[in-house]
Amino acid sequence: MHQYKPLKIGNITLDGNLILAPMAGYTDQAFRQISMEHGASMAYAEMSSCEALWRNIDSEKTDLIMQPYPNEKHLALQLFAGNAEAVANSMPRVLAMKPAIVDFNVGCPVPKVNKSGAGSALMQNTDELKAILTTIRALVPKEIPMTVKFRSGWTQESRNYLDVAEIALNAGADMISMHPRTRSQAYGGNADWSLLKTLKETFPDATVCASGDLMSPEAIKQMFEETGVDAAMIARGSIGNPFIFNQTKELMTTGSYHVESDRQRVQVAHQHLTLMYHYRGERYTTNEIKKHLAQYMRGNALFTHYRKALVLATSYQEMLTLFDELLANLHTHAE
Ligand SMILES: Cc1cc2nc3c(=O)[nH]c(=O)nc-3n(C[C@H](O)[C@H](O)[C@H](O)COP(=O)(O)O)c2cc1C
Repeated sequence: MHQYKPLKIGNITLDGNLILAPMAGYTDQAFRQISMEHGASMAYAEMSSCEALWRNIDSEKTDLIMQPYPNEKHLALQLFAGNAEAVANSMPRVLAMKPAIVDFNVGCPVPKVNKSGAGSALMQNTDELKAILTTIRALVPKEIPMTVKFRSGWTQESRNYLDVAEIALNAGADMISMHPRTRSQAYGGNADWSLLKTLKETFPDATVCASGDLMSPEAIKQMFEETGVDAAMIARGSIGNPFIFNQTKELMTTGSYHVESDRQRVQVAHQHLTLMYHYRGERYTTNEIKKHLAQYMRGNALFTHYRKALVLATSYQEMLTLFDELLANLHTHAE
C-alpha cells in the first residue's frame, strides 16, 4: 500500500494528500494555481490577520490575501489572532469570501505576531487558544472544515503539542497540522519527525498533516514511512519548484519520478510571472515575483545570467523580454 491517497478533511475529500503549506509573502493566487496545476491536492492561502480584518487596517491588502483565483476549487484560508474577540469580529469578512476550509495559525514565530499573543504564543496561552477555536467552530458553518496548524511547543522544555492537539480536536478540528520545531528553534536545526509519529499514535483517529523539512520527493516519502501521518504540507521545498507535488505523487505510486527539464522550469516561471501580473498588477509583481524567480532559475549555467538580470529588472515588460531571450537561448543551447 503506498501513501499517496485521497484525504478526508471533515466532509471534504481531496484527490490526494500533498498540500501547499501556507506561506506569508508566497502563497498568493498565482502560486496556489501553479501548485494545483502541478499536482497539489489543496493550497493554503497566506495567513490573514483577524485584527486587521476587524479594524480595517490595510484593508485592500487583507482582502487580496483572501481572494481566490478563478475557479479555485477549495479556497483554504488561514487566520491568525491573539484573542477570540478579534476572531469573532473578523468572521463576517472571512465568511464573505466563501472559504472551503478555515485554518487557524498556532505556529508563527515572528516576534511582532507573538507580541500580540498570536501564532505560536498561543501554545503558552491554551485558555485563549481554546476560546478562539471554540469561537471559530461556533461561527463557521458546520459544513466548512476547521483545521489547526501548530509547532511542537514554545521551547524545548515546554513542548506541549499533545495538549494543543487535544484542545484543537476537542474544539472540533477536522485536521491538525504540525511543524515539529519549537518557537525557539524558528527554522534552525531539523524538524523532529519522531514527534509527528507520536502525535499520530496518540490520536490515531485524527487526520494528521506533517510539515517541516519536506524538501524533496524522497524526503516526503521517507517522512510518511517513518511517521504514519495522513498528509504532508510542503512549504520551502515548493518555492520555484511546484514540480515537487507531481514528482512526489509519482515516487509514492510508482517508485520513481521524472525530473522536469530546464525548458519546463523556464516555462513555468514565465507562467508564474504572467499569472501574478494578471491577478495583482505591475507593482506587486515586480516586487514579489523575484524571490520566486531566483528559485526557479537554478541548475543550468545559462540561468545564472538571467537570474541576475531578472532580479534587477524594474518592469513587467522588461522581465517578459528577458524570458523571450532566455527561451531562445535555451533552444540554441539544446541544439
Ligand atoms: C516564507 C515563509 C512564510 C511562512 N508563512 C506561514 C504562514 O503564513 N502560516 C503558517 O502556518 N506557516 C507559515 N510558514 C511555515 C510553513 O508553512 C512550514 O510549516 C514551515 O516552513 C516548515 O516547512 P518546510 O521546512 O517544508 O519549509 C511559513 C514559512 C516560510 C518559509
